[in-house]
Amino acid sequence: MNLNLKDKVVVITGGSKGIGFATAQAFLEEGAKIAICARKEEDLKKAYEDLSRLGEVYYEVVDVTNSKQVYDFAEHVHQHYGVLDVWVNNAGNSGYKKGEEYDDEEIDFITNLIFKSVVYGCQAAFRYMKQNGGAIVNVASLGGRCATSGKASLYGPLKSAVMNLTNTLAGEYAAWNVRVTCVMPGFIATERSVKSVGAAKLQSNIATTILRRPGRPEEIAKPIVFLASDAASFMTATSVEVSGGRCMTLNPLFSYEKKEAEERGESISSYEARV
Ligand SMILES: NC(=O)c1ccc[n+]([C@@H]2O[C@H](COP(=O)([O-])OP(=O)(O)OC[C@H]3O[C@@H](n4cnc5c(N)ncnc54)[C@H](OP(=O)(O)O)[C@@H]3O)[C@@H](O)[C@H]2O)c1
Repeated sequence: MNLNLKDKVVVITGGSKGIGFATAQAFLEEGAKIAICARKEEDLKKAYEDLSRLGEVYYEVVDVTNSKQVYDFAEHVHQHYGVLDVWVNNAGNSGYKKGEEYDDEEIDFITNLIFKSVVYGCQAAFRYMKQNGGAIVNVASLGGRCATSGKASLYGPLKSAVMNLTNTLAGEYAAWNVRVTCVMPGFIATERSVKSVGAAKLQSNIATTILRRPGRPEEIAKPIVFLASDAASFMTATSVEVSGGRCMTLNPLFSYEKKEAEERGESISSYEARV
Protein backbone atom coordinates (compact mmCIF):
# COMPACT_ATOMS: atom_id res chain seq x y z
CA MET A 1 0.00 0.00 0.00
CA ASN A 2 1.40 3.39 -0.96
CA LEU A 3 0.89 5.75 1.98
CA ASN A 4 2.06 8.70 -0.14
CA LEU A 5 4.12 10.21 2.69
CA LYS A 6 7.39 10.64 0.80
CA ASP A 7 8.74 14.18 1.36
CA LYS A 8 5.67 15.14 3.40
CA VAL A 9 6.51 17.41 6.35
CA VAL A 10 5.35 15.95 9.66
CA VAL A 11 5.41 17.61 13.10
CA ILE A 12 5.42 15.36 16.17
CA THR A 13 5.16 17.03 19.56
CA GLY A 14 6.94 15.15 22.34
CA GLY A 15 9.06 13.40 19.72
CA SER A 16 12.11 12.87 21.92
CA LYS A 17 10.85 9.76 23.71
CA GLY A 18 8.29 6.99 23.91
CA ILE A 19 5.39 6.95 21.46
CA GLY A 20 6.47 10.26 19.91
CA PHE A 21 9.97 8.98 19.14
CA ALA A 22 8.60 5.75 17.64
CA THR A 23 6.17 7.82 15.56
CA ALA A 24 9.02 10.00 14.29
CA GLN A 25 10.91 6.86 13.28
CA ALA A 26 7.89 5.39 11.50
CA PHE A 27 7.27 8.56 9.46
CA LEU A 28 10.95 8.73 8.47
CA GLU A 29 10.78 5.11 7.32
CA GLU A 30 7.98 6.21 4.95
CA GLY A 31 10.24 8.92 3.49
CA ALA A 32 8.68 11.87 5.33
CA LYS A 33 10.66 14.83 6.72
CA ILE A 34 9.99 15.46 10.36
CA ALA A 35 10.05 18.17 13.02
CA ILE A 36 10.02 17.21 16.69
CA CYS A 37 9.79 19.23 19.87
CA ALA A 38 10.02 18.65 23.63
CA ARG A 39 11.23 20.60 26.68
CA LYS A 40 14.56 18.91 27.43
CA GLU A 41 17.23 19.86 24.91
CA GLU A 42 19.57 16.99 25.83
CA ASP A 43 16.90 14.38 25.01
CA LEU A 44 16.01 16.19 21.80
CA LYS A 45 19.66 16.22 20.69
CA LYS A 46 19.96 12.50 21.37
CA ALA A 47 16.72 11.83 19.44
CA TYR A 48 17.96 14.05 16.60
CA GLU A 49 21.19 12.05 16.35
CA ASP A 50 19.33 8.73 16.24
CA LEU A 51 16.57 9.86 13.89
CA SER A 52 18.85 11.73 11.47
CA ARG A 53 20.23 8.38 10.33
CA LEU A 54 16.82 7.72 8.76
CA GLY A 55 16.13 11.07 7.09
CA GLU A 56 15.64 14.80 7.48
CA VAL A 57 14.94 16.01 11.03
CA TYR A 58 14.35 19.46 12.53
CA TYR A 59 14.06 19.92 16.29
CA GLU A 60 13.25 22.74 18.67
CA VAL A 61 12.82 23.16 22.41
CA VAL A 62 9.14 23.92 22.94
CA ASP A 63 6.80 23.72 25.90
CA VAL A 64 3.46 22.75 24.32
CA THR A 65 1.55 24.38 27.18
CA ASN A 66 2.80 27.77 25.98
CA SER A 67 0.71 28.91 23.01
CA LYS A 68 3.32 31.38 21.71
CA GLN A 69 6.00 28.71 21.69
CA VAL A 70 3.71 26.32 19.78
CA TYR A 71 2.75 28.96 17.19
CA ASP A 72 6.40 30.03 16.79
CA PHE A 73 7.43 26.38 16.36
CA ALA A 74 4.88 25.92 13.56
CA GLU A 75 6.17 29.09 11.88
CA HIS A 76 9.79 27.91 12.18
CA VAL A 77 8.93 24.47 10.74
CA HIS A 78 7.12 26.17 7.86
CA GLN A 79 10.09 28.49 7.24
CA HIS A 80 12.51 25.54 7.42
CA TYR A 81 10.67 23.14 5.10
CA GLY A 82 8.35 25.47 3.14
CA VAL A 83 5.21 23.40 3.86
CA LEU A 84 3.49 21.62 6.73
CA ASP A 85 1.44 18.51 5.88
CA VAL A 86 0.89 16.53 9.09
CA TRP A 87 0.77 17.46 12.79
CA VAL A 88 0.72 14.87 15.58
CA ASN A 89 -0.31 16.19 19.01
CA ASN A 90 1.45 13.57 21.14
CA ALA A 91 3.22 15.35 24.04
CA GLY A 92 1.78 14.57 27.42
CA ASN A 93 1.79 12.46 30.54
CA SER A 94 -0.74 11.49 33.16
CA GLY A 95 -0.08 14.34 35.59
CA TYR A 96 0.21 14.21 39.35
CA LYS A 97 -1.80 14.73 42.51
CA LYS A 98 -0.05 15.72 45.73
CA GLY A 99 -2.86 15.16 48.22
CA GLU A 100 -6.41 13.86 48.38
CA GLU A 101 -7.74 16.70 46.22
CA TYR A 102 -6.37 18.48 43.17
CA ASP A 103 -5.38 22.06 43.92
CA ASP A 104 -5.57 24.86 41.34
CA GLU A 105 -1.96 24.45 40.33
CA GLU A 106 -2.43 20.74 39.59
CA ILE A 107 -5.70 21.30 37.71
CA ASP A 108 -4.06 24.01 35.58
CA PHE A 109 -1.00 21.81 34.93
CA ILE A 110 -2.96 18.82 33.65
CA THR A 111 -5.50 20.90 31.72
CA ASN A 112 -2.73 22.82 29.99
CA LEU A 113 -0.74 19.72 29.13
CA ILE A 114 -3.51 17.36 28.05
CA PHE A 115 -6.12 19.66 26.54
CA LYS A 116 -4.93 23.20 25.86
CA SER A 117 -1.74 21.99 24.18
CA VAL A 118 -3.86 20.07 21.65
CA VAL A 119 -5.97 23.16 20.94
CA TYR A 120 -2.76 25.15 20.32
CA GLY A 121 -1.33 22.38 18.14
CA CYS A 122 -4.47 22.07 16.00
CA GLN A 123 -4.73 25.84 15.56
CA ALA A 124 -1.04 26.15 14.67
CA ALA A 125 -1.29 23.31 12.14
CA PHE A 126 -4.46 24.62 10.49
CA ARG A 127 -2.88 28.02 9.78
CA TYR A 128 -0.38 26.33 7.45
CA MET A 129 -2.63 23.53 6.15
CA LYS A 130 -5.32 25.89 4.86
CA GLN A 131 -3.53 26.25 1.51
CA ASN A 132 -2.68 22.64 0.62
CA GLY A 133 -4.73 20.52 3.03
CA GLY A 134 -3.26 18.15 5.61
CA ALA A 135 -3.88 15.74 8.45
CA ILE A 136 -3.85 16.22 12.21
CA VAL A 137 -3.63 13.19 14.51
CA ASN A 138 -4.26 13.62 18.23
CA VAL A 139 -3.04 11.14 20.83
CA ALA A 140 -5.79 10.60 23.41
CA SER A 141 -5.99 7.50 25.62
CA LEU A 142 -8.12 4.52 26.48
CA GLY A 143 -8.59 6.53 29.70
CA GLY A 144 -10.78 8.84 27.60
CA ARG A 145 -13.26 5.97 27.08
CA CYS A 146 -12.90 4.01 30.33
CA ALA A 147 -12.91 6.10 33.49
CA THR A 148 -9.80 5.59 35.61
CA SER A 149 -10.47 6.39 39.24
CA GLY A 150 -7.33 7.21 41.18
CA LYS A 151 -4.28 9.26 40.42
CA ALA A 152 -5.21 9.85 36.77
CA SER A 153 -8.70 11.11 37.59
CA LEU A 154 -8.44 14.32 35.55
CA TYR A 155 -6.37 12.78 32.76
CA GLY A 156 -9.23 10.59 31.47
CA PRO A 157 -11.87 13.35 31.31
CA LEU A 158 -9.37 15.62 29.54
CA LYS A 159 -8.50 12.88 27.03
CA SER A 160 -12.28 12.51 26.40
CA ALA A 161 -12.25 16.22 25.66
CA VAL A 162 -9.41 15.66 23.15
CA MET A 163 -11.59 13.07 21.38
CA ASN A 164 -14.51 15.50 21.23
CA LEU A 165 -12.18 18.29 20.07
CA THR A 166 -10.98 15.96 17.29
CA ASN A 167 -14.52 15.60 15.94
CA THR A 168 -15.33 19.28 16.47
CA LEU A 169 -12.29 20.52 14.56
CA ALA A 170 -12.72 17.86 11.84
CA GLY A 171 -16.07 19.57 11.18
CA GLU A 172 -14.45 23.01 11.15
CA TYR A 173 -11.45 22.18 8.92
CA ALA A 174 -12.98 19.78 6.36
CA ALA A 175 -13.66 22.36 3.63
CA TRP A 176 -9.91 23.08 3.52
CA ASN A 177 -9.16 19.38 3.02
CA VAL A 178 -7.76 18.98 6.52
CA ARG A 179 -8.68 15.71 8.27
CA VAL A 180 -8.54 15.42 12.07
CA THR A 181 -8.34 12.00 13.71
CA CYS A 182 -7.29 10.54 17.02
CA VAL A 183 -5.74 7.38 18.48
CA MET A 184 -6.60 5.98 21.91
CA PRO A 185 -3.66 3.90 23.14
CA GLY A 186 -4.15 1.35 25.88
CA PHE A 187 -1.21 0.56 28.14
CA ILE A 188 2.00 1.09 26.14
CA ALA A 189 5.37 0.16 27.60
CA THR A 190 7.37 3.37 27.41
CA GLU A 191 10.16 4.09 29.90
CA ARG A 192 7.93 6.56 31.74
CA SER A 193 4.76 4.47 31.81
CA VAL A 194 6.47 1.31 33.05
CA LYS A 195 8.23 3.28 35.81
CA SER A 196 5.04 5.04 36.84
CA VAL A 197 2.78 1.96 37.17
CA GLY A 198 5.01 -0.47 39.08
CA ALA A 199 5.08 -4.27 38.79
CA ALA A 200 1.74 -5.13 40.45
CA LYS A 201 -0.29 -2.62 38.41
CA LEU A 202 1.49 -3.73 35.25
CA GLN A 203 0.29 -7.30 35.88
CA SER A 204 -3.28 -6.15 36.48
CA ASN A 205 -3.17 -4.08 33.27
CA ILE A 206 -2.06 -7.16 31.37
CA ALA A 207 -4.75 -9.31 32.98
CA THR A 208 -7.50 -6.99 31.67
CA THR A 209 -6.10 -6.96 28.12
CA ILE A 210 -7.31 -9.55 25.60
CA LEU A 211 -3.88 -9.74 23.94
CA ARG A 212 -2.33 -10.28 27.40
CA ARG A 213 0.60 -7.86 27.09
CA PRO A 214 1.39 -4.14 27.06
CA GLY A 215 1.66 -2.48 23.64
CA ARG A 216 4.94 -1.37 22.14
CA PRO A 217 5.41 2.30 21.12
CA GLU A 218 5.73 1.30 17.44
CA GLU A 219 2.29 -0.34 17.66
CA ILE A 220 0.82 3.14 18.25
CA ALA A 221 3.18 4.79 15.76
CA LYS A 222 1.94 2.67 12.83
CA PRO A 223 -1.76 3.51 13.28
CA ILE A 224 -0.78 7.19 13.62
CA VAL A 225 1.16 7.01 10.34
CA PHE A 226 -1.79 5.27 8.68
CA LEU A 227 -4.28 7.90 9.92
CA ALA A 228 -2.05 10.69 8.62
CA SER A 229 -1.63 9.06 5.21
CA ASP A 230 -3.67 9.00 2.02
CA ALA A 231 -4.62 5.42 2.92
CA ALA A 232 -6.98 6.97 5.49
CA SER A 233 -8.40 9.54 3.05
CA PHE A 234 -12.02 8.79 4.07
CA MET A 235 -11.30 8.96 7.80
CA THR A 236 -11.93 12.08 9.80
CA ALA A 237 -13.65 12.83 13.14
CA THR A 238 -12.83 9.41 14.47
CA SER A 239 -10.90 7.96 17.42
CA VAL A 240 -9.20 4.64 16.81
CA GLU A 241 -8.62 2.48 19.86
CA VAL A 242 -5.28 0.65 19.90
CA SER A 243 -5.29 -1.17 23.21
CA GLY A 244 -4.92 -4.90 22.60
CA GLY A 245 -8.59 -5.12 23.57
CA ARG A 246 -8.15 -3.75 27.09
CA CYS A 247 -11.36 -3.52 29.15
CA MET A 248 -13.43 -4.72 26.20
CA THR A 249 -14.71 -7.97 27.70
CA LEU A 250 -15.44 -9.12 31.25
CA ASN A 251 -13.55 -12.37 30.63
CA PRO A 252 -10.43 -11.42 28.69
CA LEU A 253 -8.72 -14.74 29.50
CA PHE A 254 -11.50 -16.89 28.03
CA SER A 255 -9.75 -17.93 24.79
CA TYR A 256 -6.49 -18.77 26.61
CA GLU A 257 -8.24 -20.90 29.21
CA LYS A 258 -10.26 -22.66 26.51
CA LYS A 259 -7.12 -23.34 24.45
CA GLU A 260 -5.35 -24.75 27.52
CA ALA A 261 -8.38 -26.95 28.26
CA GLU A 262 -8.26 -28.22 24.67
CA GLU A 263 -4.55 -28.93 25.04
CA ARG A 264 -5.27 -30.93 28.22
CA GLY A 265 -7.73 -32.98 26.15
CA GLU A 266 -10.80 -31.63 27.96
CA SER A 267 -13.76 -31.56 25.57
CA ILE A 268 -14.95 -28.09 24.57
CA SER A 269 -18.51 -28.76 25.72
CA SER A 270 -17.40 -29.89 29.18
CA TYR A 271 -15.08 -26.84 29.45
CA GLU A 272 -17.87 -24.45 28.42
CA ALA A 273 -20.25 -26.07 30.88
CA ARG A 274 -17.69 -25.54 33.63
CA VAL A 275 -16.98 -21.78 33.04
N1 LIG B 1 2.38 5.13 27.43
C1 LIG B 1 1.10 4.86 27.61
O1 LIG B 1 0.74 3.81 28.19
C2 LIG B 1 0.04 5.78 27.08
C3 LIG B 1 -1.29 5.33 27.09
C4 LIG B 1 -2.28 6.16 26.60
C5 LIG B 1 -1.96 7.41 26.10
N2 LIG B 1 -0.67 7.83 26.11
C6 LIG B 1 -0.40 9.16 25.58
O2 LIG B 1 0.64 9.08 24.62
C7 LIG B 1 1.41 10.28 24.63
C8 LIG B 1 2.88 9.95 24.78
O3 LIG B 1 3.06 9.18 25.97
P1 LIG B 1 4.44 8.41 26.26
O4 LIG B 1 4.12 7.30 27.20
O5 LIG B 1 5.15 8.15 25.00
O6 LIG B 1 5.20 9.56 27.11
P2 LIG B 1 6.78 9.78 27.37
O7 LIG B 1 7.55 8.57 27.01
O8 LIG B 1 6.88 10.37 28.72
O9 LIG B 1 7.14 10.93 26.31
C9 LIG B 1 6.49 12.16 26.42
C10 LIG B 1 7.09 13.13 25.43
O10 LIG B 1 6.39 14.37 25.55
C11 LIG B 1 7.32 15.41 25.89
N3 LIG B 1 6.64 16.40 26.72
C12 LIG B 1 6.07 16.24 27.94
N4 LIG B 1 5.58 17.40 28.38
C13 LIG B 1 5.83 18.32 27.42
C14 LIG B 1 5.57 19.71 27.28
N5 LIG B 1 4.95 20.43 28.23
N6 LIG B 1 5.99 20.35 26.15
C15 LIG B 1 6.63 19.65 25.19
N7 LIG B 1 6.89 18.36 25.25
C16 LIG B 1 6.50 17.69 26.36
C17 LIG B 1 8.47 14.67 26.60
O11 LIG B 1 9.71 15.39 26.54
P3 LIG B 1 10.13 16.46 27.69
O12 LIG B 1 9.87 15.82 29.00
O13 LIG B 1 11.57 16.75 27.41
O14 LIG B 1 9.27 17.67 27.46
C18 LIG B 1 8.55 13.42 25.73
O15 LIG B 1 9.21 13.70 24.51
C19 LIG B 1 0.84 11.15 25.75
O16 LIG B 1 -0.09 12.06 25.23
C20 LIG B 1 0.12 10.13 26.64
O17 LIG B 1 -0.91 10.70 27.38
C21 LIG B 1 0.34 7.04 26.59
